[in-house]
Amino acid sequence: MSAPESVHRRARELHEQLHEHNYRYYTKDDPLISDAEYDELLRELQSFEAQYPELITADSPTQRVGAAPLKGFGEVRHAVRMLSLANAMADDELASFDQRVCRELETDEVEYAAEPKLDGLAVSLLYQDGRLVRAATRGDGETGEDITQNIRTLNSVPLMLAGKGIPATLEVRGEVYISHAGFKELLQQAEASGKKPPVNPRNAAAGSLRQLDPAITAQRPLEMFCYGIGKVTGGSLAATHTGTLDRLEDWRLPVYGDIESVAGIDGCRDYFNRYEQLRDDLPFDIDGVVFKVNRLDQQERMGFTQRAPSWAIARKFPAEERETMVLGIDIQVGRTGALTPVARLKQVFVGGVTVTNATLHNEDEIRRKDVRVGDHVIVRRAGDVIPEVARVVIEKRNRGAAKFHMPMHCPVCGSQVTRAEGEAVTRCSGGLFCPAQRKEAIKHFASRRAMDIEGLGDKLVEQLVDATLIDDVSDLYRLTVDEIAGLDRMAEKSAANLVAALGSSRTTTLGRFVFSLGIRGVGEATAQLLAQEFGGIESLMVADIETLETIHDIGPVVAQHIIDFFGEQHNRDVIGKLREAGVSWPAVENRRTQPLADKTFVLTGALSMPRTELKEKLQALGAKVSGSVSKKTDYVVVGENPGSKHDKALKLGVTVLDEAECLELIAGMI
Ligand code: IVH
Repeated sequence: MSAPESVHRRARELHEQLHEHNYRYYTKDDPLISDAEYDELLRELQSFEAQYPELITADSPTQRVGAAPLKGFGEVRHAVRMLSLANAMADDELASFDQRVCRELETDEVEYAAEPKLDGLAVSLLYQDGRLVRAATRGDGETGEDITQNIRTLNSVPLMLAGKGIPATLEVRGEVYISHAGFKELLQQAEASGKKPPVNPRNAAAGSLRQLDPAITAQRPLEMFCYGIGKVTGGSLAATHTGTLDRLEDWRLPVYGDIESVAGIDGCRDYFNRYEQLRDDLPFDIDGVVFKVNRLDQQERMGFTQRAPSWAIARKFPAEERETMVLGIDIQVGRTGALTPVARLKQVFVGGVTVTNATLHNEDEIRRKDVRVGDHVIVRRAGDVIPEVARVVIEKRNRGAAKFHMPMHCPVCGSQVTRAEGEAVTRCSGGLFCPAQRKEAIKHFASRRAMDIEGLGDKLVEQLVDATLIDDVSDLYRLTVDEIAGLDRMAEKSAANLVAALGSSRTTTLGRFVFSLGIRGVGEATAQLLAQEFGGIESLMVADIETLETIHDIGPVVAQHIIDFFGEQHNRDVIGKLREAGVSWPAVENRRTQPLADKTFVLTGALSMPRTELKEKLQALGAKVSGSVSKKTDYVVVGENPGSKHDKALKLGVTVLDEAECLELIAGMI
């Protein structure tokens, strides 16, 4: 039976009231009614919904507790790319940012919006006619995960906006985080249930958002602050960033209360100093403050770089430092045989994570810092940077502490170690005879940017090598489901998935294949270049040093590494076995006969396809894709919000194409 009109009307009324009270309670911290009164309204709505399920809509205030679990997250392509921020670690870097902004805007003093840099996760919320219809993570900036169900459980995120002038499409961006009080709650819960406690609020927030069951997310104390917008159509906001945030706040979105507009670098400095003092008293973690050119017309003039807006900067707080003790110094052996000394530390909480080891880089570095087993040391960690030993507390050194020496033999395979003249790195000479190098080579081969073998993680590679199921990468393609299923923590299903993933990795591109071989000095870009220059693995394998050196961007050192690699019989055998196992790629035309050979493209602004996809299409035709516009650029391809590169192209008279024109150009060539 469908609900009578009177019930529909009352349900709408209850929606509105509950959304309003929710907002007053969670966002404004200023409730109008008691908890009991709120519960009564909610119960009234719940009983209507129980009687007439048609009343249950996604934006009903009863739906915050979490919908049914998902099997996996869908993908969301961001209409406008979600960018990162440039960092200023010290005052002089902030000053040069300000100078650059003043120069580009041809003014003496710029008005900045100043706000805290919350240490959480970036999310995008999409409102369609004022209703929350989708929420996504940042992902790689172009594509994120659909976390709509999880975001709906956040009490401070309105399911419905209220107020005047709300654009038809409004994409809001902000940071989801967990407060100190919320984190404490989680630690207590973990202790009570005997579960592993989260390491810091940021990881706890990330883990909570990644739950497939929204009922679990609903129990986590997630909060959000909005700091910007993405795509907006059917309405306009304001002429400044702070004005935009005011509008968001008017519509009930959560915006931090102390975002200011400040005058010039001095205003920025004052704000930074104030927050450095305030930092420990704030109810949540921040890792710096953010300054953004406040006027949107000026932002537009400045544009974007590949990764970040040119009109904003994060002034980070200095790295946190803590004292701890060196329990031991181990040697790790990497893919190219490099021996890296690593300090095993007495566990210490620094910069938001628990640290138990820190790299000591190489022999010279260890000698310079003179780190010895048993020393008290200062460990430093800033932001996402890996922790490092800053210095030894020499006054606390024990008398007998022995100087550390690099070993003469590889600790894994016993081969001699060598250190080439002028190089800082000590290497194991065992090559692929060394199990450590073999493991790293296989991990590299499987990695996302190489052969992209899903499900073949580091731990699994180690098990496969230790169980002598594989010796080199070509053995991977002979693995059977039974062999894999017999390993620790593997089941029939995951083993079958891995075999399927191996199967589909057989079809690749020549560039990826060359990269996956792990030749010293040959990164992704160089591998791509070699693929284009030689067009086939056979001609690359027999190339002589002179030919290699004539290639632009390849110097004598890398050329020699390539020669050495293919000079090794073992490597040639592995390549042969991989080809026999069915590893293949579409033919690559030799660059010199390719239609876009020697043409340079620059891509800018938000494109509708992932940038890498367009880049690969262009490169397949021999084009070079560069990050910056110069007189040598032939084409600039512009997406949405292109910014300064577009301006520069116009200034230099470089041909400008939009995405469709570029695709047309490509279509005309194949
Ligand atoms: S603005 C286009 N403002 O920091 C500008 N980001 O390091 C993009 N973040 O991915 C971001 N607080 O997750 C902005 N007040 C704030 C922020 C903020 C935290 C995060 C955000 C971003 C990351 C970049």
